[in-house]
Amino acid sequence: MLMVLRDTDGFVSGEKLSEALGVTRAAIWKKVRELRSEGYIIEAAASRGYRLVRAPDLSSEEVISAVQGAFWKDALFYRSLGSTNDFAVEQALDGHLQPGTVIIADMQEKGRGRMGRTWTSPPGVNIYMSLVIKPCVGPRDATLITLLSSLACANAIRRAAGMDVSIKWPNDIMASGKKTGGILTEIKADQDSIALAIIGIGINVNSRVADFPEELRETATSMKIETGREHARSDIVIRILQEFEYLHGELARSGKTSLLSDWRKLCSTLGKRVLVTSGDAAVAGIAEDIDDEGLLLLRLESGGLKKISSGDVTLRS
Ligand code: BTN
Repeated sequence: MLMVLRDTDGFVSGEKLSEALGVTRAAIWKKVRELRSEGYIIEAAASRGYRLVRAPDLSSEEVISAVQGAFWKDALFYRSLGSTNDFAVEQALDGHLQPGTVIIADMQEKGRGRMGRTWTSPPGVNIYMSLVIKPCVGPRDATLITLLSSLACANAIRRAAGMDVSIKWPNDIMASGKKTGGILTEIKADQDSIALAIIGIGINVNSRVADFPEELRETATSMKIETGREHARSDIVIRILQEFEYLHGELARSGKTSLLSDWRKLCSTLGKRVLVTSGDAAVAGIAEDIDDEGLLLLRLESGGLKKISSGDVTLRS
């Protein structure tokens, strides 16, 4: 339906739409209402039909028509959710979401970050989405899903916006030393296999400095702040999903070597003196490498090597 509206300069009659799509006039009207709830402005005039006045910069229609196939099955858009991850976990565990579904919200009331933090989620400007997938790796390699997701986001932002971003272990997307995106992965697994992974992705796309709470302004940024222009959120979402599908396919087909080496190339943490904090504990050292499960290898001041599976990394001078 969107394609017909987009391709027509002016009004398309309800009759023509229902003929073109092979559905009833009532179904056309229902679809118009759905599109309006996603932010499309569609004019309806009794004698003339429908006219697309303005499309939102983020819609599930646009996203799914670009990526739907063997891997991505469906995209669901909500004006507002508590948290796309909470919603996806709940719905997926109840069996209401098939793997390959993407949940997208225009805003979140209770956006969650790692380590129990809040993820600032104002409306109309950023990407908040959760990918529901059945990953090709087992529980031992669960960290690879997060690394793969951060690489997909970094590649997508670099390619779609020509922006220079890097990754801070394990999953922060960084630009000019500030955070522009983060990933929160949650899995349902038993000892041998991962039944589902819910990958929550938050990218600050068009937020302005004023959209961030005061205490984040020194450490957070957005694509718009960095490039000086706005970006269509659908384009970025589509790129992320395409990159994700490609990297996941490569991982399934050829193993993890090239994923790990591509990830290392974009990582800004390796080789640096860092402090890793987790709860009340902090440990200092040089972030030497990641191992083949994606864990951080920290060279301690004592000379020993410590494997870190989770924590917050800050660079030290
Ligand atoms: C981080 O702390 O770096 C992770 C941030 C993850 C935020 C995203 S936004 C979409 C999804 N829903 C949430 O509540 N959190 C994730």
